[in-house]
Amino acid sequence: MSALKPAGAPIPDHAGTPVSADAMSVLELRDVSKVYGSGDTAVAAVSNATTALYPGQMVALLGPSGSGKSSLLLMAGLLEAPTSGSVLLRGQLANGPGASIADPRAFRRQHIGFVFQKPNLIPFLSAAENVQLALEINDVPADQAQRRIHELLSYLEVDHRSDNLPNKLSGGEQQRVAVARAMANQPPLLLADEPTAALDSKRGRQVMSLFKQVARDLGAAVLVVTHDHRSLDLFDRILQMDDGHLSERAVTSMLNASATA
Ligand SMILES: Nc1ncnc2c1ncn2[C@@H]1O[C@H](COP(=O)(O)OP(=O)(O)OP(=O)(O)O)[C@@H](O)[C@H]1O
Ligand SMILES: [Mg+2]
Repeated sequence: MSALKPAGAPIPDHAGTPVSADAMSVLELRDVSKVYGSGDTAVAAVSNATTALYPGQMVALLGPSGSGKSSLLLMAGLLEAPTSGSVLLRGQLANGPGASIADPRAFRRQHIGFVFQKPNLIPFLSAAENVQLALEINDVPADQAQRRIHELLSYLEVDHRSDNLPNKLSGGEQQRVAVARAMANQPPLLLADEPTAALDSKRGRQVMSLFKQVARDLGAAVLVVTHDHRSLDLFDRILQMDDGHLSERAVTSMLNASATA
């Protein structure tokens, strides 16, 4: 399966530290802050967040409601500009003076996949056509696109539903199509904001397992905001947001805590 072969990128052996010095981060946040509004009504959603994600890593982002998780993800995905600090994607500076990503929109389209809580599929397009749209936007030739669509939908075990409209699919199937769409251009960075919140625990775990597969098979870095501690065993790293402050958690202690919860 050509489109799904491993990227062969160096995979870090533990949190944030690449195996070799030349392993390039997929995403790097340097002292990133986000303040919404100004004056008395200003909200500091993210304060001086610093971290880096490397190819093949599956990373969870936990934290209470309102702690700044979505804000962090939006900045990582170039959907919101930071108030201060730097966002780097594959070593290229995305914001501020000296930014080397000239067209963030085009960069996002080609290099970043998003999955949200709701699948947000286009209701009058079939499952396959929803994925096709993402490829057409990037000018992938039609025959290549068709091959990739079916490869992806089979990989996600939803190929048998490819001609169905979204409202004929179950919630889990719709979310799989949304994952296929996000992966269509084989982005090195996949960002997901509570992608399993609308699913039961079995379907939720299936979707999380898919992300794990994507990280492992394609060498993508995957960052998932989640409240579901039952799938934490699938993650290589766990980041935590508390009142806008980002920190790294030890995976083992989190697993022990959720096992005894
Ligand atoms: N566009 C916005 N304008 C003003 N304030 C905002 C905006 N987006 C988020 N906020 C505020 O920033 C803070 C962080 O919000 P954010 O959505 O990032 O949190 P979250 O951790 O994703 O929460 P949840 O788990 O509920 O989704 C909150 O106080 C929120 O009210
Ligand atoms: Mg949120």
